[in-house]
Amino acid sequence: MNRKNIRNRKKRKLNIRGKICLLVLILIIVSLVVTKNKKQTEITSLNENKHIIEVTDTYSIKIDIPDSKDENIEKEIKEWVDARKTEFMQSIDNELLKEKQMQYELVINYEQSEYNNIQSTHLVSYMYTGGNHYLRDDQSYYYDLVNNKEVVLTDFLKDKNNFKKIAQLSYFEVMEESEKRKSNLDENWVKDGTEANIENYENFEFNDEGLNVLFPPYQVAPWSEGEIKVVIPYDKIKDIINFEVPENKENEVIKIERNTRDVENLKGKKVIAVTFDDGPSNKTEYLLQELEKEDWKVTFFVLGSRAKEYPELIKKMYKDGHEIGSHTYSHLNLKNLSDYEIYKEINNTNKIIEETIGIKPQYLRPPYGNTNDHIKEIADMTTILWNVDTLDWKSRNEDAVYKEIMKNASDGSIILLHDLYQTSIDGAIKAMKELEKQGYEFVTIDEMFKIKGEEIDKNKSYFNL
Ligand code: NI
Repeated sequence: MNRKNIRNRKKRKLNIRGKICLLVLILIIVSLVVTKNKKQTEITSLNENKHIIEVTDTYSIKIDIPDSKDENIEKEIKEWVDARKTEFMQSIDNELLKEKQMQYELVINYEQSEYNNIQSTHLVSYMYTGGNHYLRDDQSYYYDLVNNKEVVLTDFLKDKNNFKKIAQLSYFEVMEESEKRKSNLDENWVKDGTEANIENYENFEFNDEGLNVLFPPYQVAPWSEGEIKVVIPYDKIKDIINFEVPENKENEVIKIERNTRDVENLKGKKVIAVTFDDGPSNKTEYLLQELEKEDWKVTFFVLGSRAKEYPELIKKMYKDGHEIGSHTYSHLNLKNLSDYEIYKEINNTNKIIEETIGIKPQYLRPPYGNTNDHIKEIADMTTILWNVDTLDWKSRNEDAVYKEIMKNASDGSIILLHDLYQTSIDGAIKAMKELEKQGYEFVTIDEMFKIKGEEIDKNKSYFNL
């Protein structure tokens, strides 16, 4: 090979290299132009009434606006959306945008549903204007399709004063959710965010389950918790809302044939309510057999913790026509507990009993008889105390129990015993046999209310009837 050839080859090599470089350069330019064009073509704006899309290099807006059956609500929605847009545009600093090339965002979407002739519309706006996270705004509208008017939560209450009850239940449900999530929410924050004012209850919905209340981020908990949605079941609010609540389907699953009786025949007779606390226990089955033999009805104030252990005994009590009341879950002095702890003691027990026999207990015997107006308000049950204390737990003596009953029992008496001790059961049965001879009938608390024609008052404590 001579020099000339070598040079030519070098030249060709250079040429090829040059062409490749040029090609790469052209490709880069073309792609830049294409990207730029593409970006420019993306500065689209679709502005149909109900869908707004705007995309630029630095921000995007995507808004979906619902239809409403009400003109005024439509107008309010439009105003709310416009306000969000204005707020968004004002938050964006154009100079800053150019430098940082940030993609700012405004997204507004909605959910709409109809239940019980109420159209609910819930809008959520997410705005990103820098910072650590989106800013969220929630807004809801409710339209009564029958009366053709806009409504708010308090319009569903029989009495505006019942709002406090909704607030209290919401507070408990949020605290329960906090426990489920293991998130240890700040109780005062929750209390503030669930307080009974209409601003705290702007986002709700009724469905088959009950009243759903939505608390957007920051209302009851920090942003990291997200939204908190709670359901207040109808059986807790059916007395205070002004519409027919749907039948609870779950309750129909458990149907226990109950051996009840007509108390009409017992009216005018001397009656005594014998009550057994702190069970069920391994003595309860024997007691139930004895009661069945004599056809006596009593009331059991059971502990939630024990009811969970002995579901078959709870079912038998109910089936035999005895009354099942609550003695709370773990037998704590309710006066020493926080509101939420009181609620849990009561609510957990009620749940267990309902899961076992299909209905919730309506009577509560607070441990040690300790109660007050505040506890009664939280419990929302009828408080049953006693006027004959057998002191059976102390004496553990059949004869002592028998004597206490014989000494103190009279018409309308409520007798306190515990189905934990054989001595209590034996002493009680002996006394009952004796009292029966004197013409007494043994009835449940519920039967006694009916026999005595006494109207139940949840604010009272009943010692006898
Ligand atoms: Ni007790």
